[in-house]
Amino acid sequence: MDTAIMDLNQEILEKYKNYYNPSLARLLKFSGYATIETKGEGVYIIDHLGNKFLDCHGGFGVFAAGHCHPKIIEAVKKQLEMLPLSAKVFLNKPLAELAEMLAKITPGNLQYSFFCNSGAEAVEGALKLARLYTKKTKIISALGAFHGKTMGSLSVSGRELYKKPFEPLIPDFIQVPFADLENLEKAIDEKTAAVILEPIQGEGGIIFPPQNYLSEVRKLCTDKKILLIIDEIQTGLGRTGKMFACEHFQIAPDIMLLGKALGGGVMPIGAFIGTKEVWQPFFEAPLIHTSTFGGSELACIAGLEALKVIQEENLPQNAKEQGNYLLTKLKEIKEKYPQIIAEARGLGLMIGVEMVKEGYAGGVIFEMARQKVIGAYTLNMPKVIRFEPPLIIKKEEIDFALDVFEKSISKVQKQFIKN
Ligand SMILES: Cc1ncc(COP(=O)(O)O)c(C=O)c1O
Repeated sequence: MDTAIMDLNQEILEKYKNYYNPSLARLLKFSGYATIETKGEGVYIIDHLGNKFLDCHGGFGVFAAGHCHPKIIEAVKKQLEMLPLSAKVFLNKPLAELAEMLAKITPGNLQYSFFCNSGAEAVEGALKLARLYTKKTKIISALGAFHGKTMGSLSVSGRELYKKPFEPLIPDFIQVPFADLENLEKAIDEKTAAVILEPIQGEGGIIFPPQNYLSEVRKLCTDKKILLIIDEIQTGLGRTGKMFACEHFQIAPDIMLLGKALGGGVMPIGAFIGTKEVWQPFFEAPLIHTSTFGGSELACIAGLEALKVIQEENLPQNAKEQGNYLLTKLKEIKEKYPQIIAEARGLGLMIGVEMVKEGYAGGVIFEMARQKVIGAYTLNMPKVIRFEPPLIIKKEEIDFALDVFEKSISKVQKQFIKN
């Protein structure tokens, strides 16, 4: 191999070691990803050696429209040369248009948007708005949840490993088991402002509530006059086969959170969208919650174009069809390897394969990487390998991923299971 190319790899690893984080460099090397990401193209990421990896991880849901979608890139390039960031004193056309589009496509009476730069920031803003609107302090979230790693979003998230070192977190934030209506009802009191939930827990291990759970939570929140915040940062914008996962459960929240796919895989952007009623405190004090970079022309143009692509290319439908096919095949593989795989579950292209033991997941992901398919485990349940590829994926690409996955499972079985 060309020594200059190998030297480049070594040089970047050294920089990680000396200036970024040596443990992370080791971790990436160990997971089979110690080359340099160089180009994104549809469902593929190409490294500096020219290796083409099929992306079945999809950047935790960021790359719904694929990598470097030409229409999104084109729109962003055009805006980049005109005015990338907002001066914040004029009217911002892409921001107004994106807010209007979100009001049109989101369920129920969701109407007003605030734009920020990440999912966690959207969570922070929604929690602040809930306290402001209700004048109450308590927020209830679910165990196993993942809403981000800033102090507020971490306070409503579920894994002790990430939370414990930062305690005390925000007071009056409590957690109840996911999909447990009785305990949720018991936890609600006169101090409660809101309940925040993912419709399907992503980082928690692709966990589904029973079909009627969310509609019962909706009813409970309405009856008790508390807000329901639904986090669609990972599930939203087509991933589960519908534009929003809460549509599978026929509910509309008071505040919805978006991020990841909203940037079209090109720009970072987060958003929270609320009803006119809930937005009242922001009408009275429009500068009470602000962000310097949030709602930039560049990010909003990416958002607008991403939504157009998702609609025009009918990506929710493709997610539904390809997801059904992928899940059916993964269930067949599960039947062949019951000592390694405990369960395959999913909706659309949000699929998790739970291993019998946590140790197996690492081995499978490493083997998949060696065979050029990108996989990853879910952050709060590392024994679940996620399949969240770009929603543009085709059947042939899924077949390739399935072939590699089965070979990887078989290899891990030979390694771990003595006959
Ligand atoms: C459901 C959910 N909410 C919030 C977040 C946080 O988003 P970000 O990493 O952009 O802050 C994530 C990230 O994985 C997520 O999956």
